[in-house]
Amino acid sequence: MSAERFEKKKTIDLRKKHIGPSCKIFFSHDPIKIVQAKGQYMYDEKGQRYLDCINNVAHVGHCHPDVVKAGAQQMELLNTNSRFLHDNLVSYAQRLQATLPGKLAVCYFVNSGSEANDLALRLAWQYTGHKDIITLDNAYHGHVSSLIDISPYKFHQSSDAEQNQYVHVAPSPDVYRGKYRGEHPDPATAYADEVKDMVHRVHKKGGKIAAFIAESLQSCGGQVIPPQGYFQQVAQHVREAGGIFIADEVQVGFGRVGTHFWAFQLQGEDFVPDIVTMGKPIGNGHPMSCVVTTKEVAEAFMSSGMEYFNTFGGNPVSCAIGMAVLDVIVKEDLQGNALRVGRYLTNLLEKQKEKHPLVGDIRGRGLFVGLELVKDRLKLTPATAEAQEVIYRLKEQYILLSADGPHRNVLKFKPPMCFTTEDADLVVEKIDHILTELEEALGLKSHNALSVENESNKRKLPTDENGHQCHSGLAHNRGSSQEVLNKQTKRLKT
Ligand SMILES: Cc1ncc(COP(=O)(O)O)c(C=O)c1O
Repeated sequence: MSAERFEKKKTIDLRKKHIGPSCKIFFSHDPIKIVQAKGQYMYDEKGQRYLDCINNVAHVGHCHPDVVKAGAQQMELLNTNSRFLHDNLVSYAQRLQATLPGKLAVCYFVNSGSEANDLALRLAWQYTGHKDIITLDNAYHGHVSSLIDISPYKFHQSSDAEQNQYVHVAPSPDVYRGKYRGEHPDPATAYADEVKDMVHRVHKKGGKIAAFIAESLQSCGGQVIPPQGYFQQVAQHVREAGGIFIADEVQVGFGRVGTHFWAFQLQGEDFVPDIVTMGKPIGNGHPMSCVVTTKEVAEAFMSSGMEYFNTFGGNPVSCAIGMAVLDVIVKEDLQGNALRVGRYLTNLLEKQKEKHPLVGDIRGRGLFVGLELVKDRLKLTPATAEAQEVIYRLKEQYILLSADGPHRNVLKFKPPMCFTTEDADLVVEKIDHILTELEEALGLKSHNALSVENESNKRKLPTDENGHQCHSGLAHNRGSSQEVLNKQTKRLKT
């Protein structure tokens, strides 16, 4: 059976007609039609293979046979809701609990990362009786109304979005381009003190902190690795104010960071959040997610008297799939692979940093790695257009990578966990070539040019894929060829 129902052109037309225009597509001037996938590879309608460096949802590999089988077998037998007793539900809760610190023992199964974070907020409000939430700058926690409110990544995109009066935005603990950087003697304390001051300001205005929410490593925010000890101090300030700590592991959980199963554990054994939210990789593509919390928080939620019911959350099929994902992570030592291949990839990228002035920073843990492109290593001028150019050129060479962060200049690696050292070699080799060409076009010399900022290049360019403006001298500098300029402009418009 052909995996393609329509010709590509018709798929594009139908999509334009029937799918909301704010649902963006990758590479909009020449979108990819994917019809099949396996492991870390995706295949288009012509059978062309793409190396997938971005799909952390397909955590144990696209269409992993064990996961597919577990889902299909359970689907043949029964699928229903959690109002009936079922062993899958309790076994899976037990399995998840075993990966977490003891006090995180109570699960709520839901269907998406957004649902998980929305429920986490409800738990926090109910448990504390407070209303105010502290979130981090550039954070993204989901698409439902309550989460757009706590997602500066989103609400900064819209000129009419007003910041909710109960939401307070603390600086992102980014030691590369944030308020306190690598040379600071104690960035963890400095960033945590920002939260402490924020708590005081909220109190002065008569507010009360219900929760601090953060991704354990910021993903959309630009692959930010918070300094160790930051979460412990934040948790202390927030708990002293009667609030709780929510760790969003929707992107980074399930062994991706290599050394630990959960990314919050990177902070140290002395740190345990009050709520952990999970999503994306949990079902390897099957829509499911989970909120795990303490008995105390769960009991407070119960005490409101309101029943919690979720039609699909925790159904036997989802639980079977979730258990299969956990099994494959262990069976194939994917956490170990993330550690080994992640280190290998990071080392390769570090060499690129030595070679290419456009590379400002390499940071990551396991198979969660960011490469930040800058036009000036001292001023940290974001190389936004260059980052777009890199991902477009990689796509032309059948490698899928994305650029994110507040300036869309951070190349994000978060591939399926079966990614290999050969895959890492391939993508880094291509990036090396692309950066060499870009730097040549920009007139940059790898050995001496730390600054590529050129005042004459500061002209307005179209917006990038996410609606952000790209400032670049690239087209300007890449010769007089109108063709190059057109191509560049077209790409930036996508
Ligand atoms: C950190 C984080 N939390 C929550 C969400 C929301 O998850 P979903 O899209 O499954 O609702 C996302 C989605 O990208 C995310 O990156």
